[in-house]
Amino acid sequence: STPLRVAVLGCGVVGSQVVRLLQENGDDLAARIGAPIELVGVAVRRLDAPRDVELAEHLITTDAVELVTRADLVVEVIGGIEPARTLILSALENGASVVTANKALLAEDGATLFEAAEKAGRDLYYEAAVAGAIPILRPLRESLAGDSITKVIGIVNGTTNYILDKMDSQGSGFLEALAEAQELGYAEADPTADVEGFDAAAKAAILASLAFHTRVTASDVYREGISEVTAADVASAKAMDSVVKLLAIVELKGDQVGVRVHPAMIPRRHPLANVREAYNAVFVESEAAGQLMFYGRGAGGAPTASAVLGDLVTVARHRLAGTKGAGESAYAARAIQPMGET
Ligand code: HSE
Repeated sequence: STPLRVAVLGCGVVGSQVVRLLQENGDDLAARIGAPIELVGVAVRRLDAPRDVELAEHLITTDAVELVTRADLVVEVIGGIEPARTLILSALENGASVVTANKALLAEDGATLFEAAEKAGRDLYYEAAVAGAIPILRPLRESLAGDSITKVIGIVNGTTNYILDKMDSQGSGFLEALAEAQELGYAEADPTADVEGFDAAAKAAILASLAFHTRVTASDVYREGISEVTAADVASAKAMDSVVKLLAIVELKGDQVGVRVHPAMIPRRHPLANVREAYNAVFVESEAAGQLMFYGRGAGGAPTASAVLGDLVTVARHRLAGTKGAGESAYAARAIQPMGET
């Protein structure tokens, strides 16, 4: 059958691993999809930038706009608002299905993207946008669709968890631990997004939107980062048999949604206290299921690429079947709890 044409936009920490896995496991993926897949191009910002993957010259381009017109499946792993938004919108308009890991864009302007996907009748999948490799968005959207979620508590930023963990276990300084996290490829291009909680806030907005069938944007989230957490804070938590973690908390109280990100002290016996290094975990409470916990690698190239490729297989199968996954229902009008009130 005709191959499905795949374009990858971005070849950084995540993009390079997506490309590597596509090249190494292409035959297996094709067998799972039921059709061959062909990588038609990888859009980069600079042709001469170092890359973590071997790539044939003819596949590399700086013209993402043109590349999008030649693809059935577009993977957006550039990050940030523009040009990612324009490229995703034009991909959908051109009839492509889209997979993205772009939490910042989804949290700021998801509504525009979801509307465009509905209008085009195409899939827009983004499992990799929250907690990297951990399957959490599908469980919220699909597996728990028959239940009523009341609360989600997550450690959803690997960089800050790594920093807080090193401060706790090795007594490291903040900057030293941050530099290590950056070297391991966990941090955002600008680590302020991690350290000040913007990254976690974007993820909290996405979690709240799916959990409570409403639209929550990043600006709705009460946010406090970890830059003011001192070695003394971590030591005094330790003396109380507790640890400091950056938590994203989303909950439903009556018809109001509370969404917040802040450092919190939690007892060492709590399961979230044992989430070490750059691991993530998401704790879910729902009416019928009770408590659930999802745990795994929340950052880094290959783990995030795993989620991207899972979405790629799903949207490719939908295309072949001539179907589309459920769109993002936002049927519940809910007020956001005023900041600071809990
Ligand atoms: N910088 C993010 C983190 C990457 O540290 O968790 C995954 O979104």
